[in-house]
Amino acid sequence: MDLQAAENRVSQLHQLLNQYNYEYYVLDKPSVSDAEYDQLLKELANLEEQFPQLKTVDSPTQRVGGEALSMFAKVEHRSPMLSLANAFNESDLRDFDRRVQQTVGENYSYICELKIDGLAVSLHYENGLFIQGATRGDGAVGEDISANLKTIRSIPLRLKDPITLEVRGEAFMPKKSFEALNQKKEENGEEPFANPRNAAAGSLRQLDPKIAASRNLDIFLYALAGIENSQITSHSEGLSYLETLGLKVNQERRKCANIEAVLDFINEWTNKRPTLPYEIDGIVIKVDSLEQQKLLGTTAKSPRWAIAYKFPAEEVVTTLKEIELSVGRTGVVTPTAILEPVRVAGTTVQRASLHNEDLIREKDIRIGDQVVVIKAGDIIPEVLKVLVENRSGEEQEFHMPDHCPECASELVRLDGEVALRCINPKCPAQIREGLIHFVSRDAMNIEGLGEKVVSQLFQAELIQDVADIYHLNYDQLIGLERMGEKSVTNLLKAIEASKENSLDKLLFGLGVRHVGAKAAKTLAIQFETMDALAAASKEQLTNINEIGEKMADSIVTFFEQEEAQELLTELKTAGVNMEYRGPKPISPEENDSIFSGKTIVLTGKLEQLTRNEAKERIEALGGNVSESVSKKTHLVIAGEDAGSKLAKAQQFGIEVWTEEKLLEELKRLEV
Ligand code: IVH
Repeated sequence: MDLQAAENRVSQLHQLLNQYNYEYYVLDKPSVSDAEYDQLLKELANLEEQFPQLKTVDSPTQRVGGEALSMFAKVEHRSPMLSLANAFNESDLRDFDRRVQQTVGENYSYICELKIDGLAVSLHYENGLFIQGATRGDGAVGEDISANLKTIRSIPLRLKDPITLEVRGEAFMPKKSFEALNQKKEENGEEPFANPRNAAAGSLRQLDPKIAASRNLDIFLYALAGIENSQITSHSEGLSYLETLGLKVNQERRKCANIEAVLDFINEWTNKRPTLPYEIDGIVIKVDSLEQQKLLGTTAKSPRWAIAYKFPAEEVVTTLKEIELSVGRTGVVTPTAILEPVRVAGTTVQRASLHNEDLIREKDIRIGDQVVVIKAGDIIPEVLKVLVENRSGEEQEFHMPDHCPECASELVRLDGEVALRCINPKCPAQIREGLIHFVSRDAMNIEGLGEKVVSQLFQAELIQDVADIYHLNYDQLIGLERMGEKSVTNLLKAIEASKENSLDKLLFGLGVRHVGAKAAKTLAIQFETMDALAAASKEQLTNINEIGEKMADSIVTFFEQEEAQELLTELKTAGVNMEYRGPKPISPEENDSIFSGKTIVLTGKLEQLTRNEAKERIEALGGNVSESVSKKTHLVIAGEDAGSKLAKAQQFGIEVWTEEKLLEELKRLEV
């Protein structure tokens, strides 16, 4: 084939493949088989190999390309990516409607859209060509995730018109892809994602676009930003225009003449929500006329012409089949409800902690009951209540046993505690749970050593205490269930790497009573080495701000035990680091006292940092991160969708920062 013929064929293939891709991913109406599509794509790839000059950036072969990045570049948004104010009930919606009416008069209508539970992204097209895609970030500056967005097949690499514009929408992971991904993660012994939103965000924040490509993400566009001299006068016209360009817009939108029609739409989708192939967390209500939108304007954070109605936590009914007891690493015996598996807020739930006997009595939970289950904070399954009216009379009351379900020693209730405890230090359950704790993410973080593997190793008597982990070898591990050559090699590497962890990780991992991750960090920073800490007196310990009597006693007692000393010697011999390695806090004098000694609350979705990262970095600078806002709070960091905590902060007149501002200050202060 000569160049001219190849050029013609390449152009024809582009057209065909783009059309088929559009039919399949945007319209959901494929007109050719997958095999046919693949064949054409292969033909195109071959031609591009033969005639490299014919390869263009918008070629259908170029969805997954390039090397993994080392970091994402920052992108300044042309116009700010705002967030939405929330409504939680009918009265909030009627208030919103009243405010709209006050500004625009009687003559207005709304567009209702599904609120897709994913993450906001912005796509930039120049002369029809996809140039760049970014996360929302703090609304003003986001991150360039173009390579990852290109892997989303419903995002056209070239629009149907050669136009320059910015569009915004929600990238998300469909329920099916989410389930498949979590199943794979579980099979690999990895932590599954808590919900499709986290999975989508996690996928788009991968530096290697091959990972994003494997995650089957999708997108709905819901806003047109930055288009000049347009004939478009309403939001609904804007959405239809996006469709004509080949962009994917959600079909379930509806024009509503008044707030009553909006309420109907909400009711309808409250019921139909489970039938959708993707997760939604509410309904977005927007004033349709662009002129009226302009009139209403925006606040610093969100437009006054739109509001997000948030669904209440999803409630599902299932049967409580059994109550199982488990013994934790501190000997506390916890009852757990075993449920008939049921889908709630994006995942299948089959267990929910019942915490203690008092709670079981309080809610009058019986075995065989029909119960209402929710996910608290959209993550932790919880039995909300019993449907007493559905009882058959066969249900059985539950009583906590007198003896440990694992080692049969007598259980005790310590003064002032509701929990029952097994106080046998040799209880195998406690030892096993202690091992699981040691390798967990906030402690030594040994990837590949999940609960199942630890339990197997413990059962096989290959590890009895944490030091044994550092003596494991290839032959012992390869014999375990589902441990192939590669997983064993990786695990051994992870174990080796964990020897380099900072003292605080090790200290937390040892599970000294009352010493949580935060206290472990404080102690590690203060004493710098395990030996110095082991030699500390109770007085030296209680002199530290956050260390109380109880913790100090527990620390002193721990280091006095001969067994603990032996264990530490063994860990040291195995080469485990015993020193603090991390940022040293700036002394109060040099710290500009921005964080030092201040109480700081994090709220809303953070996009660039995880909660834990933010917390660790603030604490390293001497700040205290607390959960709830009170008059004593000095500063609130508000991410996207911040709710009542932000409102409270405003009410108390507490300083509020964006995540971006936090990052700026952290960077300035960290050495
Ligand atoms: S409109 C200026 N429409 O919800 C208004 N947002 O809580 C821009 N979202 O940041 C947002 N579905 O990530 C809009 N149909 C929809 C949406 C939607 C999901 C997300 C978006 C936004 C967040 C606000």
